[in-house]
Amino acid sequence: MFGPVLLAAARSDGIRRFVSSTPVTRPVVNRFVAGERLDACMENVRSLTGRGLDVTLDHLGEDTTDRAEALRNRDAYLALAQALAGEGLGERAEMSVKLSAFGQALPDGGHDVALANVRPVVEAAAEAGTTVTLDMEDHTTVDSTLAVLADLRESFPQTGAVLQSYLFRTEEDCRALAGEGSRVRLVKGAYNEPASVAHQHKADVDRAYVRCLKILLSGKGYPMIGTHDPRMVTIAQELARRLGRKHDEFEFQMLYGIRDSEQSRLVAEGHRMRVYVPYGTDWYGYFMRRLAERPANLGFFLRSLATR
Ligand code: FDA
Repeated sequence: MFGPVLLAAARSDGIRRFVSSTPVTRPVVNRFVAGERLDACMENVRSLTGRGLDVTLDHLGEDTTDRAEALRNRDAYLALAQALAGEGLGERAEMSVKLSAFGQALPDGGHDVALANVRPVVEAAAEAGTTVTLDMEDHTTVDSTLAVLADLRESFPQTGAVLQSYLFRTEEDCRALAGEGSRVRLVKGAYNEPASVAHQHKADVDRAYVRCLKILLSGKGYPMIGTHDPRMVTIAQELARRLGRKHDEFEFQMLYGIRDSEQSRLVAEGHRMRVYVPYGTDWYGYFMRRLAERPANLGFFLRSLATR
């Protein structure tokens, strides 16, 4: 019931200013964000990889309509690629990017600006022995993001993308991206989407998720199963077993700070488990989506406000 309200608030500047300046927000934010600075985030990365988990790092930022800010976001990722090269973790530590942070939302030629800004990041990732996954944002960006993916994959075929099972189009997109060398993270989807393009009921989103899992796991690509849902994890394990996929032919992914013990359990069972690790100061939109998808997270936040 609160989900759509929180998702609308995620894009309101006024509410952003209020929530960001409220000191009690901090401890709640720290549950989901691995630090404001790269060095703090790298400490967390060492701790996670020491526990056998792989990571994908997200320098927080999105919805930029300022060219200079898009360049600053690009530069933050170039610094991140350099830091990862120093860690020598290879593909155990990759990067996730939101194209809207790279200029995709600019009214004039945003698609081309985002492509030009993300290409050097993908090159730097390859030099560091790792790769990049393109996060997926609201449905108006999907065609542009998949076109950027296709362009980047001509030179860097290991570049990955995210597909969201709540969108009607996604089964078709899964079929198109189930080929050799393709890396797809399948998620349910975190934005407020209209009924004209997306399933509105959880049961329908879950059923679509399973259909997409079947397509990706029976294909020739590398599926990355992004969910905290125990039912989806069990179904994916069962499908992978039936389809003869070995443990290193797919991976699970979860967000930093969510279901830590389940993350460790999957590693102990011999699965690849990658944690999505966000860091940086621009945490507002990410944080609001986490509140929107789970009432328990919202309750925790509201209790902190009430006890200030
Ligand atoms: P869902 O929210 O449907 O919950 C199902 C069940 O999972 C719950 O009943 C509970 O049992 C368990 N669960 C869920 N959250 C829990 C929690 N916090 N604590 C304990 N149990 C919990 N979205 C997007 O639109 N674009 C993107 O690029 C990405 N990227 C991305 C990367 C990764 C690695 C992940 C895991 C997720 C994303 N997402 C995303 C977010 C995604 O779309 C979705 O909003 C969330 O993962 C929530 O959906 P779930 O599948 O986790 O379960």
